[in-house]
This record gives sequence, structure tokens and C-alpha cells, in this order.
Amino acid sequence: MKWKIQPSSSLHGVVSMPGDKSISHRALMHAALAQGTSRLQNFLHAGVTEAMMRCVRALGVPLAIESDGALIVQGGQLRSPAARLDCGNSGATIRMLMGALAGQRDLAVTLDGSVGLRRRPMKRVAEPLRLMGAEIGDTPPLSIQGKQLRGIEYTLPVASAQVKAAILLAALQADTPTTIHEPGPSRDHSERMLRSLGVSVATENNTVTLTPSGMPLSTFETTIPGDISSAAFIFAAAALVPNSEVTVQNVGVNETRTGLLDALGAMGGDVCVANVHEVNGEPSADITVKSSELRGITVDGDLVVRMIDEFPIFAVLASQAQGETVVREAEELRVKESDRIGSLASELRKLGVPIEERPDGFVIAGPTRLHGAVVDSHGDHRLAMSLAVAGLIAEGETTVTRAEAYRESFPNFVDLMGRLGGTVHESHE
Ligand code: S3P
Repeated sequence: MKWKIQPSSSLHGVVSMPGDKSISHRALMHAALAQGTSRLQNFLHAGVTEAMMRCVRALGVPLAIESDGALIVQGGQLRSPAARLDCGNSGATIRMLMGALAGQRDLAVTLDGSVGLRRRPMKRVAEPLRLMGAEIGDTPPLSIQGKQLRGIEYTLPVASAQVKAAILLAALQADTPTTIHEPGPSRDHSERMLRSLGVSVATENNTVTLTPSGMPLSTFETTIPGDISSAAFIFAAAALVPNSEVTVQNVGVNETRTGLLDALGAMGGDVCVANVHEVNGEPSADITVKSSELRGITVDGDLVVRMIDEFPIFAVLASQAQGETVVREAEELRVKESDRIGSLASELRKLGVPIEERPDGFVIAGPTRLHGAVVDSHGDHRLAMSLAVAGLIAEGETTVTRAEAYRESFPNFVDLMGRLGGTVHESHE
């Protein structure tokens, strides 16, 4: 499927985002391990979470969807599935399942996924799990034979919330406490959710210690905040399309996720955060962005970790900023849904952006007048939507090929853009 995008003269309106992808994954995984019924309101229904739903069902956990989209999870005893579990394109699904299943004694399973997923790093999860006593492979298709686990003290070589989440899921089932040290502040949704369920999770700086109780997790009801990583495309579009003002309601503002807002503010963006409130330990707010002149900035260190999924759309913002924007210490971008340094550079150049690729980031000199072109998503949902936003400010028509990738995380992107005044057409020609 292709997208055809026309330039937009202004964007206006108030919208809400689908549920946060990271929190949806954790809520489903924790609910599957709890003994009884949990209810997850504003659960994300998209490609990556459907992958986790499929796997959890195959492990013997009944799921139901209510008319408002809430997911009902009947957690309990997991059983060995009849066939390999297909984790699709979802890194969170395979990594969290590795952690959750490694400690399920008597359970045997093989985890696999798409060609793209098979290429992504899994050893970073398998290694600490093996130190805990797990019997687990390194690359998909990877098999797991559930074992009794022991706690460990472990230093993550890279800040990765997916690795941390997997170790915490295993730590819940271990017989002694586990301590994880991280080099940066990766998203802490697992810690917050487990604490709200009564699990002993202590956090200090970038160190987290979980002390297992030996009891199953409690069932729970929660409302998942809107996904700030999806809202990022709307914020950027509002900042870039002239005469725009857009509000996104009830979007998660956990500070381990708000790096793009800080970066946009530092660039001179007009960002207003209002009505901050907390649900189950996760803060959300209403955020309004208006169009403004932007200037280039340097992004490195902790800010990279706090906006790790936002670099494709950040690069589009940088293309319109006055002066140089430098991203460094971001080599992790090379192992995301695409090599997000290489794929960004090749596609943005087609639109006229002077972008210099570096091993650990990129440099963009702006502002540049974009011209419409045929660009490709590389099968990466965030690249597809970033290129669509670039199309809204490019001269002439922009075509994005393999656009269907957007359904992995933000299935109503086209609809919401249309409601705000942005023209993104689906084409099957
Ligand atoms: C996620 C963590 C990040 C992020 C991904 C979701 C999570 O990955 O890129 O989209 O839910 O924990 P890493 O942990 O690999 O950095």
C-alpha cells in the first residue's frame, strides 16, 4: 500500500491517541501472569500488540475485547503451546516473553517472528536470563525450557527498557532479589506497574531492585494513557505546518518518555502541557502545540534514551530548524525496526534534506525547502509516519511506499491526520 500526501495549509483540532504501546505490552504480560481477571482500558489494538495477544492466547490465557476496546485477560497457569509462537515484528513481545517464560517450570516453547525480528539483537536478553539459570537460545527461532531461576545483580551494557522489562519478569519468579544497573534512564513502565500491583520494586538513580514475594501477581484494572510516541507525529506536524494549533488529550507524560517535548521546547517550539493527572502511577496530560520558528540543537546523553523512538520525526523537525542539528551517542538507532540512521538518511535526502550520516547519529543543516518525491518506509512504522509528516510541508506530492507498516503502532493515524486537516490518501495502485 502507498500513501499520497499533499501539502497542508494548516492543522487544527483536539484529538486523543490510542493506548501507549509499551504500557499495553506490560499490562497484558503482567495480567497474563496474574491469577484471575484483569481489565485493561484503552489497550492499544495494533499490529505489535496483536502479536502479543496471539502468543498469550496460545499459552492458554483467554482474552476478550469489550465494545469500548477494553481487553479482558483471564490470567493464570501458562501451558506449553502446540506450535512455535509467532511474535511478528514485535521486539517487545519476544523479549518480554523470554523473561516471563524462562522461569515457568515444566513449560517448553519456541519463539519466532518476522525476518526483520530475527535480525534484531536478542542475546542481550538471553545472557542475563542464563545467569539467572534459564535454558534459552540467543536468536529466533529460540527455544526456552522453563527452569527455577535465581536473582542476579546485572549491569546492562546499553540502556534498554525491553531488556530491563524481561529481566524484571524473570525476577518475579526467582527465589532471591534481582538488581539491575542501567547506563541511562530507559522507560520505567514495568517498575511503576509492578509497584502499583504491590511488588517490592526499589529504584535509585538508574538502579532497580526487585524482591520476589513468591506469590502470583494480583489482578488489576487500569486505564492506559495515550501513546506519546504516536502523539509525536501530531506534535511535529502542528509545529511545522504554518498557522496550526493542535491539542492531544490524555497523553502519557512519564518523564522517561518526554524527551521529544524537551527537544522541541529547546528548538523554540510552542508547547503547552496542561491538566497533568496520574492513573496507576503513570502521569498523563493534555498537550497543545502551535506552529513556530525552530532552531537547531544538539541531542546526546540521557536525552537520546528519553526520546529513543522519536528520531525519525525529530529529523523532520530538524530539517526545518535554523542552523545545525546534531544527534550523537545514538548508535542504538541502528537496531530498531529499521537501521534508523541509514534509512532516515536515504529517504530524507530524496525530499531534499542535507543529512550527514554518522556511525552514532546524524547532522542536518536547516532550514531546507522540501520537495515531494517517492520515498520508502523500509517496513518501519515510525519512518512511514515521519515521511508522511514531511509530505505535509513539501512542495508537490509525496508518495510513501510500503506505508502499511504504520498499522504496527498507530492504526488510526490517517484518520486523525484527516480530522486535523492533513491530506494522507491510501492508494493500492
Ligand atoms: C520499548 C523500549 C524501547 C523502544 C521500544 C519499546 C519498551 O526499546 O524503542 O519501541 O516497551 O520497553 P529498547 O528497550 O530496545 O531501547
